[in-house]
Amino acid sequence: DRANPEFLAGAHAVYSGLRAQGPVVRASFGTNFTDGARAAGSPERQTQGASEHAWLFVTRYDEAVEALLDERFSSDFRTGMTPEQQERAAAALPEEFQPIAHSLLMLDPPDHTRLRKLVQPNFTARAMDALKPRIQRLVDELLDKAERAAAERGETSPERRMEFVEAFAYPLPVQVISDLLGIPVEDQPQVHVWAERFLQADPQQYMANHEARAGMMAFTRYLEGLFERKRREPTEDMISQMVHAQEDGDRLNPRELLSMVFILFLAGHITTVNLLGNGVVALLTHPEQHARFLADPAGMAKGMVEETLRYWGPVDFLGSPRTVKEDSALGGVHIPKGSKLTVGLASANRDPHRFENPDAYDISRPDAHRNIAFGKGIHVCIGAPLARLEAQIAFETLFRRFPKLRLAVSADSLRLGVGAAMRGFKHIPVLY
Ligand code: HEM
Repeated sequence: DRANPEFLAGAHAVYSGLRAQGPVVRASFGTNFTDGARAAGSPERQTQGASEHAWLFVTRYDEAVEALLDERFSSDFRTGMTPEQQERAAAALPEEFQPIAHSLLMLDPPDHTRLRKLVQPNFTARAMDALKPRIQRLVDELLDKAERAAAERGETSPERRMEFVEAFAYPLPVQVISDLLGIPVEDQPQVHVWAERFLQADPQQYMANHEARAGMMAFTRYLEGLFERKRREPTEDMISQMVHAQEDGDRLNPRELLSMVFILFLAGHITTVNLLGNGVVALLTHPEQHARFLADPAGMAKGMVEETLRYWGPVDFLGSPRTVKEDSALGGVHIPKGSKLTVGLASANRDPHRFENPDAYDISRPDAHRNIAFGKGIHVCIGAPLARLEAQIAFETLFRRFPKLRLAVSADSLRLGVGAAMRGFKHIPVLY
């Protein structure tokens, strides 16, 4: 039950047991939001009860990479349905999920290829170089603000307090993606409230969570209004670019535009927040690695980010499963057509056949960058260069400015947040 923080806390032991069973195993998860839609689209599934949620789970690294590169494994949950079944599936999906169900994450080529090409130029190495000063400035501003708040409370180093998630890990990526998209600064606080209610919702209770659902609808209506504004008065941002692309020859229909902004905003949200939190906790709870990092933050930041992605990546396994389009095999296991399969990214990243001593956190690990925390293949995270850049600048600056940074509570008392198989700490009180 991925909505249960106790499962996530002990998940690596579970994954290790599953890897020992085989490269592909049967696993049963709590409900997934597309399950209802899938059941509605597929009459025989409606009678299967609990087994509806049984997926195949890829446990090992080589097979995980193979599965992610195999285009017979579709990301579109409508795959294999007749048009009538698809219609029924669409009707069964909560209205506020329509944008996600039509986003890059859940499309196959050729639509996926066309849409991804449209936004890809915003995430090239060159685009990232241009963003560096902006991210550095934001990082410094957030740390300045934390220092000012501590001074106002009369605290002095090394006893200044900070709630790391609230003061830093959350606002940094959220402001970066909001600025990139072109969400006006004055609207950002409201938009974040809507997004948070949704992202923090317990997947098992989602349908009864009126606040989360209403928030998503409000966000959709807000975005439609924003598109209108950008159409009239374009600015230098991704939404203006996409609105323009839309008018410029049918490259993006209105639903696709909404889906794209939705997914970039949401995917750019909680994942990077968790990477920042996971990195700080990993480093502060491994004294030898911590000392090594402090000796050379600029030199070690890249390796530290890769090792954090490998050791405690923000996405344990893909929330949107693959639908197998034809009979296949993976690691010698027969995969029948129509199977639902998900890839254990976190499990693959601790596969002892790929990474030596995989349960050790080692920021100098030479092959840490081979982690698949961002996936692989055509759906590999489009925001990976941005997340990596933000995290490198954040860790380097944080530990250079605040070398006395340490946890204010025992590591055992830190709690993981719930929600969609994301791994991240809810609150991280620190002293510096
Ligand atoms: C896709 C993880 C940050 C936007 C993915 C996938 C993973 C992932 C595993 C692949 C899903 C699949 O194959 O089904 C992460 C992690 C992040 C992060 C761990 C931070 C540490 C971001 C950011 C953005 C973003 C900052 C936006 C700027 C996307 C989008 C996709 C995606 C749009 C869909 C790509 C496609 O299907 O072609 N991400 N992500 N992500 N991510 Fe990220």
